[in-house]
Amino acid sequence: RTMSLEQAKQVAAYRAVDEFVQNNSIFGVGSGSTVVYAVQRLAERVETENLKVICIPTSFQAKQLINKHNLVLGELDTNPEIDVTIDGADEVDSNLTLIKGGGGCLLQEKIVASCSKKLIVIADYTKDSKKLGDRYKKGIPIEVIPMAYVPIKNKIISLFGGEIKLRSAVAKAGPVVTDNGNFILDWMFADQDLDWEKVNNAIKMIPGVVETGLFVKMCCKAYFGQPEGTVKETN
Ligand code: A5P
Repeated sequence: RTMSLEQAKQVAAYRAVDEFVQNNSIFGVGSGSTVVYAVQRLAERVETENLKVICIPTSFQAKQLINKHNLVLGELDTNPEIDVTIDGADEVDSNLTLIKGGGGCLLQEKIVASCSKKLIVIADYTKDSKKLGDRYKKGIPIEVIPMAYVPIKNKIISLFGGEIKLRSAVAKAGPVVTDNGNFILDWMFADQDLDWEKVNNAIKMIPGVVETGLFVKMCCKAYFGQPEGTVKETN
């Protein structure tokens, strides 16, 4: 029997929440469609095991999920040290380098990840890659200050090549505006063998770049739901 992609997301999410969420802890809630299952499972566990967990959101969507399940909503001001964050990803390579921001939430996701002792990724098997770009074809999202999007685009292309598109909104004419009031550039890189740490650092140095969707050396474990219903773990 082949499971649907949604079921693959769910098994990965449930496994991660069961292994990593503990009583009396601070939990970072990622964004996207896979995290929906993680929050569902967390809410079940909080209820049945009477857990005390403070949830720190990585987006407006995450905040709404936390509130919908009546979980305890926290913020970095009062809880700057997070025990574990569980988040999705658009692509994960064999070194656990991630592309994130397909849903536009990369900046707050990276802030919360940077405050977490552990970042655990949950995803279906289609996100599991050897090299970045093998599976996710939409490029690397980069959050930028609106007035600088053209010079940033030109600078990235002259540094590393490829092509860049300003992400446009679906239900509105014009660009996507992030939770932080910024734009998103999607960089279709041409070279899959770049040193992603160097690339991330170089792009971040361009004035007007707020954050990149490259998560290098941040994730310690990934769970991939498989078509057969098992879960593959990568450390
Ligand atoms: C949100 O902007 C992203 O970084 C998500 O974490 C990523 O796109 C994964 O989302 P799905 O779980 O919906 O694939």
